[in-house]
Amino acid sequence: MWLLAAVCLSCLLGGAPAQERATFRRGNNSGGRCQYTFIVDSPTDASCPGGSDREGLQSRLALLEAQVSHLAGVEASITVEGSQAALQEKYAKIVAERTQLLRDKEQLDIQVRELQQEVQRLRARSCQLPSSPGGQRAPSGSNIFSHLVSRAGGPSETAGPTDASWQFGRAAYQEFKAEVTELPAPRRNQKGDQDRCGELESVGDPETIHKVDGISGKYGVWLQDPEPVAPYGPKTVWRLDAVGADVRQLFAYEDKQQLSRGFPVKVFLLPQPVESTGATVYRGSLYYQRRHSRTLLRYDLVSETVAVRRDLSHAGFHGQYPYSWGGYTDIDFAVDEQGLWAIYSTTKAKGAIVLSLLDPHSLEIRRSWETNIRKNTVANAFMICGRLYTLASYSAPNTTINYSFDTATSQGKAIAIPFRNRYQYNSMVDYNYANRKLFAWDNFHMVSYNVQLRDPDNI
Ligand SMILES: *[C@@H]1O[C@H](CO)[C@@H](O)[C@H](O)[C@H]1NC(C)=O
Ligand SMILES: *[C@@H]1O[C@H](CO)[C@@H](O)[C@H](O)[C@H]1NC(C)=O
Ligand SMILES: *[C@@H]1O[C@H](CO)[C@@H](O)[C@H](O)[C@H]1NC(C)=O
Repeated sequence: MWLLAAVCLSCLLGGAPAQERATFRRGNNSGGRCQYTFIVDSPTDASCPGGSDREGLQSRLALLEAQVSHLAGVEASITVEGSQAALQEKYAKIVAERTQLLRDKEQLDIQVRELQQEVQRLRARSCQLPSSPGGQRAPSGSNIFSHLVSRAGGPSETAGPTDASWQFGRAAYQEFKAEVTELPAPRRNQKGDQDRCGELESVGDPETIHKVDGISGKYGVWLQDPEPVAPYGPKTVWRLDAVGADVRQLFAYEDKQQLSRGFPVKVFLLPQPVESTGATVYRGSLYYQRRHSRTLLRYDLVSETVAVRRDLSHAGFHGQYPYSWGGYTDIDFAVDEQGLWAIYSTTKAKGAIVLSLLDPHSLEIRRSWETNIRKNTVANAFMICGRLYTLASYSAPNTTINYSFDTATSQGKAIAIPFRNRYQYNSMVDYNYANRKLFAWDNFHMVSYNVQLRDPDNI
């Protein structure tokens, strides 16, 4: 039913400006649950636009799905009398969101036009170069950015892990690549990481690295690999926009500056879609949860193939045990000085956070811990030096990290370390021990925080 409502609403959003009149009705269904109906005027019989606008629609749909699932949660927790007001408030919010989406769409359209002009310019230039062999490889008549905007050609199942449409006018791409400077060799198991470990003392103010334009940037993942594998280095930025039903694009940027300019050095098309914002990058692999499953994948960034897939036993998924903001954040990968972790819950643990140390190569569980903190009461969680930390709120501008669990002693305790959600919708928080920062994705903004650890000698 919720999906149906969201679909109707997404049709409404995708419609032409002439279709703006819509009615919103609330009623009971036979099961005694609330039912919402959106009715929109349609200029033609087929009220849902198809084909070319599919990608955009899916992004909108996913956003609305998240809204609606949140709404469902709200409904369940309030009385019938109270729900009317809450619904009206939610409805107003959705309408506001819609206006924002339309504005974003316009922005995107402008960007696409600019990019197309840029492509034309680059093509023209590469043709003038004498005997540029790469220039011929660009598929004639194809728009290299087209897959970023819409994939008109049917279901993407047919696309392989390397997207043929990503040619970047070849010659221009090579030119750009030649400017990439040599990056230092990856640091592996550097001695001293363990010694420098300590309890979290404080978190600095967020530093805003980049604001994402476009609706697909509401939430996502951005990271640097603490132990990168060549040709990628410690400065390489990895980014996944997590809004959408078919999230497969992983962007690699040379560094934060290129991220800000919006020029990826490479775009990977993942063979399996990504669920939510739990992914991480570690030792040259992207680790992520496959959409709508408890299957964990290790995608090797050098060979560009799935190296390992393994089910995380009994783990809840697709909205069973998410963080408090929802968004299907059931399984969250984390990396710290001690290795690769999965933060999740199981029916046996009845929604309490389960923590598993994974073998980064095989994804097998090495050891697990069960905490007594419920996963859906925390906004996010991350690991530092073998300790789990949980965030109280994803939206309060001034909140706290209010719980920690030490895997060395299997003990949890309440703490109160101030933390700022500057943009008030924090969907991802991950620790990077190589640069001792928290990376977060806060409402279209990629931010980072410096962290201060307590010197273990002074405890
Ligand atoms: C829905 O059901 C409730 C309780 O059964 C009732 O009070 C309310 O009037 C019904 N609303 C509609 C729109 O039928
Ligand atoms: C942390 O804050 C959340 C949200 O306010 C609350 O539900 C939870 O009980 C708190 N945890 C502790 C250990 O105080
Ligand atoms: C949050 O904390 C900052 C810094 O401590 C302060 O300047 C700001 O006024 C606080 N904001 C709110 C909403 O309390």
